[in-house]
Amino acid sequence: RKNLNIGLFGFGVVGHGLYEVLQKTPGLQATIKNICVKDKDKKRQIGPENFTYDKNDILNDPDINVIVELIDDADAAYEIVSAALKKGKAVVSANKKMVAEHFQELLQLQRENNVPLLYEAAACASMPIIRNLEEYYDNDLLESIEGIVNGSTNYILTKTFAENLSYDAALKQAQDLGFAESNPILDTGGFDAKYKLQILLAHSFGYIAKPEELYNIGIDGIGDLELKYAKEKGLKIKLVAQAFKGAEGSISAFVIPKFVGPEDRLYHVDDVFNGVITKTSFADTHFFVGRGAGAYPTASAVLSDISALSYDYRYEYKKIFRSENQSLTDDVTLKV
Ligand code: HSE
Repeated sequence: RKNLNIGLFGFGVVGHGLYEVLQKTPGLQATIKNICVKDKDKKRQIGPENFTYDKNDILNDPDINVIVELIDDADAAYEIVSAALKKGKAVVSANKKMVAEHFQELLQLQRENNVPLLYEAAACASMPIIRNLEEYYDNDLLESIEGIVNGSTNYILTKTFAENLSYDAALKQAQDLGFAESNPILDTGGFDAKYKLQILLAHSFGYIAKPEELYNIGIDGIGDLELKYAKEKGLKIKLVAQAFKGAEGSISAFVIPKFVGPEDRLYHVDDVFNGVITKTSFADTHFFVGRGAGAYPTASAVLSDISALSYDYRYEYKKIFRSENQSLTDDVTLKV
């Protein structure tokens, strides 16, 4: 196993969570050597000697062999991650917006520089979904993938439904608990779920979708009428991301709120939990469930990626390679 010297970007909910989780994981030979943050004046739980405010202090440090990117701003994150990959440093990121918006470029950068980028925490936080899609469901075994992939909206829907909390109060709780994005419209408008769906699509079916190709409806249009209807019929409302194979190699993918009944496994996925059902050719279905947001659960997935790097793990992107080799046909067309 390699010794890992980490340069950490960001010390918010997840960054601080990772700091603590690493301290509680002494078996892993991974040390945070330097932490880059933006705001000099912000009060933090550890002393200022741990921080730098210049990203080049980390990017140009030859001792640092792993960059962990946990900042909020997707554009700034892309700058950091692409610079790190060009310098041959392995990267772990939890930034779904950044990964979804730059999937193609990030793939290219990994190939050109022969260096891995891992982002298990970017989709469904703690739930190990990406590596399962990569490793287990090779050979076109997947028929569909469907699930709750945003923790904040599931939390809000659960609280407004079961506890009659107002939408604003439930959102405030999701923010206070560190589940929501700093711009919560990304959660409530279904955008965060869409970024995650894009990532899952690439690892499920080898299809790299642009954000504008996927239709997303969030939860902000759900009102008393829908809640009343659901209650009367014994249903719940869940924000569901879906991708499935259609006729002639087409794939449909979208994010949409759905009424679900107790016979649906997603009905039982409440609070901040995420749940994903994969439908396979020979094994019927699998059901993954896990905490979809929060400091330690998200840090746990980051930790798993860091640990995987110590074994030189990388995503093979076999499905993407295969669909690239399919020559330029319309074999995989995306319908919404
Ligand atoms: N805002 C995200 C969510 C955080 O609520 O799911 C985890 O990706």
